[in-house]
Amino acid sequence: MVSYSDILISNALIDDTTGLRIAVFVGGTSGIGRFTIKALVSTGITVKIYLLGRKSSQERTQAFIAELHAINPKAKVVWTEAEVSLLADVKRVCDIIKSKESRVDLLFLSAGYAPFGSRKETAEGHEVVQALEYYSRMLFTIRLLPLLGESPIGRVISVLGGGMETTYLIDLDDLDLKKPGNFKVYRARPQYVALNTITMDRLASENPGITFIHSSPGAVNTGNVRRGWDAGSTVGEVFSRVVEFLTWLTGFSDDESGQRYLFQSTSAAFGGRGVTWRGKAGVTTGQKSEGGLFLVNNKCDCTHNSTVVAQLREKSQQKVWDHTQAVLWPYL
Ligand SMILES: NC(=O)c1ccc[n+]([C@@H]2O[C@H](COP(=O)([O-])OP(=O)(O)OC[C@H]3O[C@@H](n4cnc5c(N)ncnc54)[C@H](OP(=O)(O)O)[C@@H]3O)[C@@H](O)[C@H]2O)c1
Repeated sequence: MVSYSDILISNALIDDTTGLRIAVFVGGTSGIGRFTIKALVSTGITVKIYLLGRKSSQERTQAFIAELHAINPKAKVVWTEAEVSLLADVKRVCDIIKSKESRVDLLFLSAGYAPFGSRKETAEGHEVVQALEYYSRMLFTIRLLPLLGESPIGRVISVLGGGMETTYLIDLDDLDLKKPGNFKVYRARPQYVALNTITMDRLASENPGITFIHSSPGAVNTGNVRRGWDAGSTVGEVFSRVVEFLTWLTGFSDDESGQRYLFQSTSAAFGGRGVTWRGKAGVTTGQKSEGGLFLVNNKCDCTHNSTVVAQLREKSQQKVWDHTQAVLWPYL
């Protein structure tokens, strides 16, 4: 485990020479993304942050942005309205960022929740959580790759379940879990985790100049557990209360979670670029210290989950890639 004190020491080294100038947060209106933005702005550096969010969150986010500007007047936080579950809107907003910026240093992806309730689809026909946690995240990544490649420290972080992949829980014949009876939270969650790792692993191998991290946050009391239930579910209410109590008891505080993700966003522990790290270097799924995908657990340790990832690569990667390309191509 990377100790919290080591993380704070590393984060204290973040300054204007570290190179993190432009960051894009998808999911930064709440929870872990929001805690990370606050930790980043609190470093006092000059940074521009694109904070993407849906219209319904705009008003409360304005108060957050005002708070951030008071903490650090050198931080420019740009509210950018986007319905990120819709791939057409992801394309639109990426085009806006591309028209304004010549590089992106950090793409931070944390929109989503566990889909405990019934299957719900976006207007584009994708299950909402799969759209948020997989298709939208991969589309942001692919469309912003050219700008990430222009950064000396370009980094993509997907906050979901890095290191928790399994082979037996991915349904290659029904990647979108559309078959009758196939959509259940205990199938969807591991499937979306595996899809993230499989596709990020391929993108990482094709783009060795960019650092890719698929990360598990551990337990953080963000209210996330309540999002996925159908309205009025009594089981959902009881389950959420129990999980929230356990998370309060054993999980990370908001501040620690934000600092841990700031560390993952900046430290040279992952790929050698960024804030100098004198501890153990992280190792990719390809067992290297750079040029690949880092699976980072809740303790900020890299776990290569090598047997599972090797099997996923061999048996699933091409099929997942072809399917993902077919879904994303209208927006590429
Ligand atoms: N927190 C944990 O303990 C934990 C543990 C394991 C995995 N995770 C996963 O890690 C990721 C980040 O977790 P978190 O706790 O930071 O989540 P969170 O606080 O619930 O925030 C999730 C983000 O997703 C956005 N979002 C939710 N539903 C949306 C929708 N239908 N359309 C558009 N945006 C939507 C939210 O936007 P609004 O602000 O507009 O609502 C928010 O920005 C999630 O995928 C979560 O499932 C979390």
